[in-house]
Amino acid sequence: MTLPNDPTTAIRELTQRIEPQLIEIRRDIHAHPELGFEEVRTAGVVARELARLGIPHQTKVGKTGVVGLIEGGRPGPVLAIRADMDALPIEETSGLPWASTRPGLMHACGHDIHTTTLLGVATVLKDIAPQLAGTVKLVFQPAEEGLGGMRAMLDAGVMDAPKIDFALAFHNHPDMPVGHFGFVHGPALAASDGFDITVRGKSGHAAYPHTTIDPLVAAAMLVTQLQTVVSREVNPVHPAVVTVGAINGGTTYNIIPDSCAIKGTVRTLHTQARDAAEAAIRRLCAGMLDGMRVTCEVRYRRGVPLLRNDDRVLEPTVAAVRKQFGDVVDEGVPSLGGEDFALMADLVPSFQLRVGSSQPGREDKLHNSAYQPDERCIGYGVQALARAALELLA
Ligand code: NI
Repeated sequence: MTLPNDPTTAIRELTQRIEPQLIEIRRDIHAHPELGFEEVRTAGVVARELARLGIPHQTKVGKTGVVGLIEGGRPGPVLAIRADMDALPIEETSGLPWASTRPGLMHACGHDIHTTTLLGVATVLKDIAPQLAGTVKLVFQPAEEGLGGMRAMLDAGVMDAPKIDFALAFHNHPDMPVGHFGFVHGPALAASDGFDITVRGKSGHAAYPHTTIDPLVAAAMLVTQLQTVVSREVNPVHPAVVTVGAINGGTTYNIIPDSCAIKGTVRTLHTQARDAAEAAIRRLCAGMLDGMRVTCEVRYRRGVPLLRNDDRVLEPTVAAVRKQFGDVVDEGVPSLGGEDFALMADLVPSFQLRVGSSQPGREDKLHNSAYQPDERCIGYGVQALARAALELLA
């Protein structure tokens, strides 16, 4: 196909032509959700479509990932575009004809939308490949939901052969109407860390507390003290969250137990805040021995780093979206959600585009059992990302 007198029309018409087929693929993936590193069927759909398009690809990258390559007509840099493929352990309640057929599993974060969108982008870019100066690496990633899918792909060498120079990702956004897009300069999504604290005392009879060391009262005080990490320890201009999500200890009315377990998460958008929060949590735990006679064993796990959008990818992408659709892209505020695309963004200049997915009249949320993205966000996403690739590899 010859393109570029009018890439806007060419990309739009090409996308519109494949849209019904994309929606069919999306509904098929949606009906068959798979958890992280179990995306065998989904990866099969991806590989089948890439093969149909004549796009060379590699499967089983980082266990269930798929990587495709589209060579442009001229030499140039390598742009990665990444989509995630995994579903969540939630029972779907949408009642739609294409609802999950697998009990307890659902695409409630819209990764079915992402996988399908990237297949659409592949179709369009394959068609206009002669116009690209460079290579597009299509990265279909497993296990984004906290299971280490991006880490597995990095370990499998996804950044190399050919070496990725910059990267684009995208996420459906039910807080924005379909047809709209969003971006955040700089830190956009949080570093996401986790902690397990075991508070150990000495068990005994509930009627004789003075003969025991009560880990429950100590744990209750510790949970309260942890709230001072954000309010008293972290610079107030650096957003941070410390949430305790679980406390488990004890068995019945009349026993003071030996120990109590606390689980929680720390979300930050700045390295200083991340370091300050960890140091404060460790110090508060250590202090429990003097104050409450309990020992606190802390297992602190640094998860995904913060996702920092790079203007070198953000600006041309936002400009490309405006060229394709007009002024439908707005600056948003950062979120304290986490995203493992951040690991790739730590290595090369990167940007994650927000793709509006809310249906008129609905107020959907991600990770909700009745989440219903507006499927038109697939076509919008395809056009936006294909146009961005064309501009980034001009
Ligand atoms: Ni997600």
